Amino acid sequence: MTTAPVLCGLGTWLPPRAVSNEDLTTELDTSDEWIRSRTGIGVRHIADPGTATSDLAVEAGRRALKSAGVEKVDAVVLATTTPDQPCPATAPLVAAQLGLGQVPAFDVGAVCTGFLYATTAASGLIALGSARTVLVIGSDVYSRILDPTDRSTRVIFGDGAGAVVLRAGEPDEPGALGRAQLGSDGTGADLVSIRSGGSREPLRAENAAEADPYFRMNGKSVFRNAVERMADTSRAVAQEAGWAVDDIDHLVAHQANLRILRAVADRLKLPHERCPVHLDRVGNTAAASLPLALADAVESGRLRPGDRTVLTAFGGGLTWGACALRWPEIHPY
Ligand code: UT7
Repeated sequence: MTTAPVLCGLGTWLPPRAVSNEDLTTELDTSDEWIRSRTGIGVRHIADPGTATSDLAVEAGRRALKSAGVEKVDAVVLATTTPDQPCPATAPLVAAQLGLGQVPAFDVGAVCTGFLYATTAASGLIALGSARTVLVIGSDVYSRILDPTDRSTRVIFGDGAGAVVLRAGEPDEPGALGRAQLGSDGTGADLVSIRSGGSREPLRAENAAEADPYFRMNGKSVFRNAVERMADTSRAVAQEAGWAVDDIDHLVAHQANLRILRAVADRLKLPHERCPVHLDRVGNTAAASLPLALADAVESGRLRPGDRTVLTAFGGGLTWGACALRWPEIHPY
């Protein structure tokens, strides 16, 4: 019998401080009307100074373990663009703080597609027999990398973390992940980037005046690419699962912009109600976006056991991906 990775636990964590669109108008030349009509976002959560990606990841991870009813896992994979520090990776620290012992633990960097990439890496560990259970976490503190004066990014992103537990199981059981479709196009690397602070342009006192340590995004180009890639990969994984596109009960897409979610649904000719919306309350939480949206969909009673579910994401890199599963019986914390 083939081994399949099966989703068996889901946990999330948001930093408590909620920042409304109105709050942002005190610092930026923007308005609630602009933000809502162009993005669909109303509120985002922002981590207090001193709270790092690992702090959010530990909370979400603990909740996912509780949801799965386990105390130990064989590996930890963490998707993030905002590690606690450039070196070492954040995952080993998270594993240690969760009391998971000396398990393999590593970070995955695929920006907003990170959670799907991390899930696929974890699935590979399970398929190889290297692990029977894996904790996969998406955690980001984008508020730390945004230019405080840049209204085009400040209004979009929020901080948060979400995690799932995968276990070795069988391909036909609920929660079994189908083969993911992942892709990248590095010719678009400059569309979402932080120019300074890496090996090409290290941050040094002598270049501080010319350096740009902040996250920058060409929103318009990203928008167009995101719609095409998420729609195309979603169609492909549905087909591989043996479903017509219209069979998809829920297309849970990376929560970047309400207009993107609607455009993906339109391209696939799916009713908008089948694309759950969570970004109105949390903004774009990057690697945390998919597990946060899943938990919200379950808690609101929309996503139910047995539902045909497609997860899809798009992000810097450029990177994108999708994967299909029948939703399992789980209680998120
Ligand atoms: O998560 C990774 C993937 N990321 C994404 O998928 C993001 C994709 N892109 C987007 O969601 C949208 O492109 C944005 C929300 C980022 C921007 O929306 P847009 O409709 O593409 O607006 P725009 O960038 O074309 O800006 C339109 C106008 C500009 O003014 P002018 O040049 O027309 O005078 C901007 O300066 O809106 C202005 N603007 C703002 N106005 C008020 C930009 N940001 C703001 C703001 N408040 N916060």
